Amino acid sequence: MASITFDRITKRYPDGTQAVSELDLAIRDGEFLVLVGPSGCGKTTALRMAAGLEEISEGRLLIGDRVVNEVHPSQRDIAMVFQSYALYPHMSVRENIAFPLQCAGLAKAEVRERVDRAADALGLTELLERRPKALSGGQRQRVAMGRAIVRQPQAFLMDEPLSNLDAKLRGQMRAEIRNLQREYRTTTLYVTHDQVEAMTMGDRIAVLRKGVLQQLGTPEELYESPANLFVAEFIGSPPMNVLSATVTRAGSGSELLLGSQRLVLPAGALDAYPELAGADATPVALGLRPEALRDAAGADPSWPRLLADVELVENLPPEKLVHLRLDAEPVVTEATLELAADVDQAAAEDLRALGRGSVLHARLPGTTPVREGTRAQFAVPPSALHFFDLSTGQAIAPQSPRLAAATA
Ligand SMILES: Nc1ncnc2c1ncn2[C@@H]1O[C@H](COP(=O)(O)OP(=O)(O)OP(=O)(O)O)[C@@H](O)[C@H]1O
Ligand SMILES: [Mg+2]
Repeated sequence: MASITFDRITKRYPDGTQAVSELDLAIRDGEFLVLVGPSGCGKTTALRMAAGLEEISEGRLLIGDRVVNEVHPSQRDIAMVFQSYALYPHMSVRENIAFPLQCAGLAKAEVRERVDRAADALGLTELLERRPKALSGGQRQRVAMGRAIVRQPQAFLMDEPLSNLDAKLRGQMRAEIRNLQREYRTTTLYVTHDQVEAMTMGDRIAVLRKGVLQQLGTPEELYESPANLFVAEFIGSPPMNVLSATVTRAGSGSELLLGSQRLVLPAGALDAYPELAGADATPVALGLRPEALRDAAGADPSWPRLLADVELVENLPPEKLVHLRLDAEPVVTEATLELAADVDQAAAEDLRALGRGSVLHARLPGTTPVREGTRAQFAVPPSALHFFDLSTGQAIAPQSPRLAAATA
């Protein structure tokens, strides 16, 4: 097993398209790293460079300590699993899984033993004599996985291997792939455009946008401390609410101006944000996760209150997903539009017309007293506020409490 390192790797296709730009990324030995981003951001290109199927324009690719830019794919000792897992239709499951081992010239007994072990791990033992056409989609995908793991390679590269499966099977296979990887401890670079897949599977996640790495971190780090608006809006479902707001000084504390409302922040709430704490009318993009909006009744009285029109209450047991409208200005960034366009063009147009910032999503417990067509009060825990620079989209990150205390 080995690490895989992208050292300032750039890929320019012959037509001039720059698909990957100065990518620095190290997948640790034994790690499961997910590369995620919208369609066309360069995921497959990055993976194919690691596999040796695509020439590297600039930078170095290392497997372990060895630079492999000029090493032939067959000599890299890595196995790929693609979205379309071409199985040989005239071969049985056993023969399909055994094929790479036979090509490598392994002894018959060794081949049999490895195939049996992989089949056992993948729940394919009963199906070994069947032909691929007599298998379900999930079973076929498992055979493709089997063909990759029998080789016991240094690393796995997987490009959206589950995207042809239906939602239920995908969930099941997600767990199976993770369990297998934990068992074999094989370094894995896994590509998907699905943030849920990324969040549930990755030890760490790398978010790519237009060929540029945006952030690398654990699922928790990306969720709790997104580096910029793009990551903030890409990770999480429903996505983070983003509104235009102004942070201003009020007495000894601070206030947030949000549309026509003033949210009074408890004293010290911005201590971790020296850039904002002493500010006089600083415009920011304010980010609120859907779970940051709480029923006001019973919430901590020191938390700021927000009034909003309840437009729609969706029942999603055990929760309710509530759509709210505020008169605050939307923040429609290039990233917002790009993400919406990835879903569909009409949604992007809707956003342009409506402004997403003015419609908020709240995730409330099923017992919430909030009713459609009313105006309701919501409490916001100050620790759940995210701030971003309006012009660059970069997060205004909190400093650690000790650091903030030292600079105060
Ligand atoms: N052979 C090629 N020649 C020129 N441009 C290419 C080539 N292959 C890919 N591209 C471009 O490079 C960019 C990255 O493509 P890539 O296939 O790596 O994206 P991706 O993130 O895998 O997208 P998807 O999620 O749709 O699979 C895109 O703009 C694509 O059009
Ligand atoms: Mg791709």
